[in-house]
Amino acid sequence: MPGIFITGTDTGVGKTYVTQYLAEEFRRQGSDVGIMKPISCGPAKDNDALLLKKRLKINDPIHLINPIHLKHPLAPLPAARLEKKKIDLKKIFSAFKELEKKHDLVLVEGVGGVAVPINKNYCVIDLIKDLKLPTIIVARAGLGTINHTLLTVSALREQGIEIMGIILNSFRGKELSEKSNAEMIEELSGVPVIGKLMWVAN
Ligand SMILES: Nc1ncnc2c1ncn2[C@@H]1O[C@H](COP(=O)(O)OP(=O)(O)O)[C@@H](O)[C@H]1O
Ligand SMILES: [Mg+2]
Repeated sequence: MPGIFITGTDTGVGKTYVTQYLAEEFRRQGSDVGIMKPISCGPAKDNDALLLKKRLKINDPIHLINPIHLKHPLAPLPAARLEKKKIDLKKIFSAFKELEKKHDLVLVEGVGGVAVPINKNYCVIDLIKDLKLPTIIVARAGLGTINHTLLTVSALREQGIEIMGIILNSFRGKELSEKSNAEMIEELSGVPVIGKLMWVAN
């Protein structure tokens, strides 16, 4: 397995947080882990690629970790249109190939959820398929997550994409739904919840 695509039920659910967590965990187990954020949108201070590169002390050049960077904090398609650009997917595939050669495993962080548009008629789910990677879904721990997670699972299955598991993130111990969500999601989707992460202040 050359890598894992870390997707999510939405933006802000913890994909970057989980990508860092998994990279550290795989490193502890002795793997040389690379990371990739194929497309980032918005100012440099919010760029997940720069953040992960710094936090994980990764030496790969930023043009490989993040081959496509768009200025505006939007989904890739509208961000590219605002700059009058079309996203060149070839840049992503060649960067992934390079990183794949350098590392035992490459963790690829997605952009928002699976239906986020990249080019006209091409969204995150198509990118996952073209990269031929299995996925991990990051989902919120609390209320609303059953719907979002089941929709994401069905979309991935429809495309024949392997789902390794679901990670529920940001348990705060305050919501009733946090107690039953994992079990419900496993029962209804048949996908294992492979991790539950607490919200850690600061
Ligand atoms: N378990 C957690 N504990 C504390 N902070 C978290 C946790 N998960 C995510 N965060 C924070 O919440 C924000 C959104 O998470 P992030 O990983 O950036 O989401 P995504 O990559 O899906 O957009 C970030 O500031 C991140 O550091
Ligand atoms: Mg992120």
